Amino acid sequence: MADMQKLYEGKAKIIYSTEDPEILLTHFKDDATAFNALKRGTIIGKGEINCRMSTELFQILEAKGIPTHWIDQPAPNQMRVRRVKIVPVEVVVRNIAAGSLCKQTGLPLGTVLKHPLVEFFYKNDELGDPLLTRDRLLLLELATPEQLDQLKTMTLQINEILTEFFHQCGITLVDFKLEFGLDVNGKLLLADEISPDTCRLWDEGETDQTKRIMDKDRFRQDLGQVESAYQKVLERVLNSKTQG
Ligand code: C5P
Repeated sequence: MADMQKLYEGKAKIIYSTEDPEILLTHFKDDATAFNALKRGTIIGKGEINCRMSTELFQILEAKGIPTHWIDQPAPNQMRVRRVKIVPVEVVVRNIAAGSLCKQTGLPLGTVLKHPLVEFFYKNDELGDPLLTRDRLLLLELATPEQLDQLKTMTLQINEILTEFFHQCGITLVDFKLEFGLDVNGKLLLADEISPDTCRLWDEGETDQTKRIMDKDRFRQDLGQVESAYQKVLERVLNSKTQG
C-alpha cells in the first residue's frame, strides 16, 4: 500500500493510484446510496459481490471483443484497472420499461420495448444527472460525434451479450448503466462496474413484481432482503459461467 494514494472517493468506490501510473486500484465499498445520495445505507458484503460480479462480466465481455478497463482482482473487494479519462456521461440501455423511463414518459412498468433504448445522462451530481439529448451532449463537448456513435454501438453489443448471459442465469436484464473512458491512446474502454447496483435484474422464476427484483431497487424501495438478492445474483452468475 506504500505507493498508493487515494485519488477519488465516490459513493460506492474508492480509487487509488499504484506504482504504475497507467494502473489504478478500485476498492468497492459496502456503502449504498440512492436518489443522488438522498438515501444512504449499507448493504453488507456488497463491495465483494459487486467486485466479483464486475470481474466476471468484464471477462465475459473481453472474451467477446469488448475492450474494458479490467486487469485483475487482487482481493475480494479490489480490482486493478487501466487508467482512463472517464467520459462524463452515463449510458443507460433499456429492454423493459422501469425507473425514470416510466416516470418521465408514462409507459407502464414492465412494458417490453420493441428495440433496446439507449439514453445518455450527464454525470453531474450538482445538476442531478439530467437526461441529455444528442445535441446537448455535443453542445457541452462531452464527446465527439464519432465517440457518441461508438458509445451507442458498444452499448448495444454489450446489451446483447449480457441479455443472453443473464437469461442463462434465469434473470431478465431489464436495464443497466455503463460508463466509458479514454485510455492514453484515446481508445474507448468500458469502465466503472456492472453489478446489481447498476442493473435492473428480474428473477425469471418469479411473477410477483416485488419478489422478482434482485437489484438495487430492493434498497431504493425498502423491499428488504437486499443482501440475499445480491448474493443470489452472484451465485447464478458464477454457476452459469462454470457451466458455459
Ligand atoms: O433511474 P433509471 O431508470 O434512469 O436507471 C436506469 C438504470 O441505470 C438502472 O439499472 C439503474 O440502476 C442504473 N443507474 C445507475 N446509476 C445512476 C443512474 C441509473 O447505475 N446514477
